[in-house]
Amino acid sequence: MNLSAGYQPADSLISELSLARSLLEAQNLSGILPVGVGYLGWLLDKMPFQEAESLLIAALTANVQAFWFSFGSDLGKWIRYVRENSSGKSPLIFVQVNSLEEAVYAVENLEADIIVAQGIESGGHGGSYAPPLFDLLQSILEHPFGSSPRPVVLAAGGLANGADIALQLTLGAAGVVMGTRFLLSPESKYTDAQREALIAANTEDTVRTVAFDQARGTIDWPEGIDGRGLRNGEFLTRDPYFTFLLEGADPCSLSFTAQSGSNSEKLNSLMALDTVSDFEQGVSLELIQSKFKEGTRTQDRRRFLVWAGTGVGLMNRIMPAKDVVQELHQECQQHLAKLS
Ligand SMILES: Cc1cc2nc3c(=O)[nH]c(=O)nc-3n(C[C@H](O)[C@H](O)[C@H](O)COP(=O)(O)O)c2cc1C
Repeated sequence: MNLSAGYQPADSLISELSLARSLLEAQNLSGILPVGVGYLGWLLDKMPFQEAESLLIAALTANVQAFWFSFGSDLGKWIRYVRENSSGKSPLIFVQVNSLEEAVYAVENLEADIIVAQGIESGGHGGSYAPPLFDLLQSILEHPFGSSPRPVVLAAGGLANGADIALQLTLGAAGVVMGTRFLLSPESKYTDAQREALIAANTEDTVRTVAFDQARGTIDWPEGIDGRGLRNGEFLTRDPYFTFLLEGADPCSLSFTAQSGSNSEKLNSLMALDTVSDFEQGVSLELIQSKFKEGTRTQDRRRFLVWAGTGVGLMNRIMPAKDVVQELHQECQQHLAKLS
């Protein structure tokens, strides 16, 4: 389980950590809190040092089992801080990577305990340059890594079910990381409307883009990092006739063969119904942001943001996180048993 320090202030991270401790207390914790906390390297770099420090101290004080770092050009600075300031045994350091080069750096320079190989299929933020998980994982597993100990490698990106997990284990991953699948749990902070959008989505409905960050104003992500989410509104724009009717127009007036003129202009404007289409067609940022804000307020599927990996088409049920883990475990065992 991973909490995100992301955009939240230290106070709210402290509350989340104390909630985690009280929920897990039944497990007779021996001091260590069995959760990880994720940090965005570039965001730590950007904030005043004391603010970044207080986010790290929050997790160090809570005695968390693991720290997770991603998306930064100076992760070493923050990893050193954690190692030098942890009392007793250093927490495990996870580093998420999008290329073999980043993996080599994380192993040889950052001495990461665990490498998370995040393929291009991943939901949420990731490197736009990442190879498919299949290739990224194998390139890391096959790399010699000189005198450094071989890393423990986890696979992330587009994984939906136990068959996917069994495949990654068979390839040599030590385990997997899944994000999107847990967005469908009641425990996630997604709204019912966002969860319904995930259930309705097909495999081809996700897109990698910076449009969502532009729309919500989180625009400082490093060069080369974008995010995969549902191409909101696509379910309407797939069918121009349906779209036209929705707008209350007279369908008889629409000629679908028109190459120019008012009908095709009208059609073009109707096709620009969602954040990504607006962004791609050069609609002003101000307008995109105001439509996004309003769409998020009204939970308009064409405008709100739903991060999702390519595995979303195989996810069609809302289940408590505990049941998801149990189901994944069972499915994975069944698939592995078929191989033996
Ligand atoms: C809603 C959401 C938020 C995420 N936030 C972070 C984050 O803060 N830091 C990070 O390193 N990765 C983040 N990720 C990426 C995950 O670590 C993981 O690589 C990804 O979810 C795997 O792909 P999947 O969603 O297809 O399972 C996020 C993913 C999602 C879906």
